[in-house]
Amino acid sequence: MNEEWKKRTVYQIYPKSFCDSDGDGIGDIRGIISKLDYLQNLGVGAVWLTPMYCSPQVDNGYDISDYYEIDKLFGSKNDFLELVEGAHKRDIRIIMDLVLNHTSTDHMWFKKAFIEKDNKYRDYYIVKPGVNGKEPNNWKSFFGGSAWEKIEGEDNYYLHLFAKEQADLNWECEALRDELSDMMKYWVELGVDGFRLDVINLISKDQAFPDDDTLNDIPGKKYYINGPRLHEFLKEINTKIFTPFDVLTVGETMDASVEDAVLLTSPQEKELDMIFAMEHMQVDYKNGDRWSVQDTDFLKLKDILSKWQYKMEETGGWNSLFWSNHDQPRVVSRFGDNGKYRVESAKMLATVLHMLKGTPYIYQGEEFGMPNPGYETIEEFEDIESLNVYKERKERGIEESTIMQGICRQSRDNGRSPMQWNASEGNGFSSGTPWIKMGRSASLINAENDLKREDGVFHYYKKLLEMRKTEELVREGKYVRLEENDPSVWCYLREGEKEALLVIANFFGEKTEFKMPKQWNDNYEITEKLLANYSDTEIPESYMKLREYETAVFRCIKKR
Ligand code: NOJ
Repeated sequence: MNEEWKKRTVYQIYPKSFCDSDGDGIGDIRGIISKLDYLQNLGVGAVWLTPMYCSPQVDNGYDISDYYEIDKLFGSKNDFLELVEGAHKRDIRIIMDLVLNHTSTDHMWFKKAFIEKDNKYRDYYIVKPGVNGKEPNNWKSFFGGSAWEKIEGEDNYYLHLFAKEQADLNWECEALRDELSDMMKYWVELGVDGFRLDVINLISKDQAFPDDDTLNDIPGKKYYINGPRLHEFLKEINTKIFTPFDVLTVGETMDASVEDAVLLTSPQEKELDMIFAMEHMQVDYKNGDRWSVQDTDFLKLKDILSKWQYKMEETGGWNSLFWSNHDQPRVVSRFGDNGKYRVESAKMLATVLHMLKGTPYIYQGEEFGMPNPGYETIEEFEDIESLNVYKERKERGIEESTIMQGICRQSRDNGRSPMQWNASEGNGFSSGTPWIKMGRSASLINAENDLKREDGVFHYYKKLLEMRKTEELVREGKYVRLEENDPSVWCYLREGEKEALLVIANFFGEKTEFKMPKQWNDNYEITEKLLANYSDTEIPESYMKLREYETAVFRCIKKR
């Protein structure tokens, strides 16, 4: 990865819920343009935009029907170009989301293939004959039901790992791969600096398409996650597009292990710059089931993130660091405290993440501690996945309250409620009716209120982003974990040759004491407090008393 990128923090925008300029209740590009100064003030180095291409919006734009056009919902190509220009002027780079695993069934290729029966385009999709009048195999879709849909008037089926309106592309077809590369080149030439590649490790399927006897997971996964030709395909696009055009890439990868990440992101492999791995997003799933939640397993969380830090350091790979995105609940509601300690916990979570090695991602609203919207009934949810889970669990006879408990905690709509900009009517998001309900806290918790406070979350984030630019240790320091099993504290170093940063955080809403580890005592002394979420944090000696969600970063020098 180009070294300069290491100074940059990425801000994720979910356009539909960011800022609506024309009062139709849906965020748009002109709305984003109006907030570029806000983003510059925060200090972001790049913006990742989730899909704004033409789409019937069955899965909020992850069902693309024209890769070359901007959907009217969001504005025009000219608006987009103005956004790119405005961002570049402020030294903010643009990362576009690209969905290369599937297209919408409204895409011209799909229509030509299955309505006009044009063989060239049929080969762009994955089509198989039925078996004894049934689907070709037992693979299931991530959004419920079979992963196969019957083609009208034929005995054939097409594959869709997500909604039936999202047909999987056939990467075995060279003409399709060429088409996708040409399309990426088109956007790069318009000024796009990077791509976030949606579920990129699903693109290569086992061509035998066997039945899957897996019981506890979604059948089929093992035949296409990190499939047989994945690395070959990625190397091909890298050679054609990523390297020659110096494009930053972050691949969204399902079930990726740290070993997979090494193969995908080690510079010598020439595939991707970094991946979004989800392992740490599962620490509150009960028995691996996302919809049955339990308290966060804090020890596991530290173990997972530490494992990734060590392994990537050792192999030269690069981490992406995130707490939330448009598919996850809001971090302050999930791992922090929604109530009394909202501000303290939001800052603590930001500190431990932003002081790690890698590229941090901020999800819109996180910078002022925006919580989950607090939806309570199924009518308040819009997401296809949540609605399908509700229906499917109802059919299985699961009690309403149990189903809703899971959905309220884990639904993707928790991250998709509109940005809470201020306390006015419409909360600065839209003058119309928002496409999805505003969060219940909007008139109190919003960007304007937070920005007014010198000790607000926004100003704290600003400092963290600044530290990444100015402190080499934040970018390059070696991660060293300083405690093994402390049930409430995470403590680590980012070590350089003569200096280190010491990061300490109490993850919980109870006071605790932390004995400074011998390894640290013997080798370091603190010279300066760089950052803390309580104004009167003192430099610790042999132990540190930590208040609720207290965190601090100290500069240390090595003892001679
Ligand atoms: C991952 C995206 O983040 C999610 O929102 C989408 O539903 C699936 N990929 C399918 O494209």
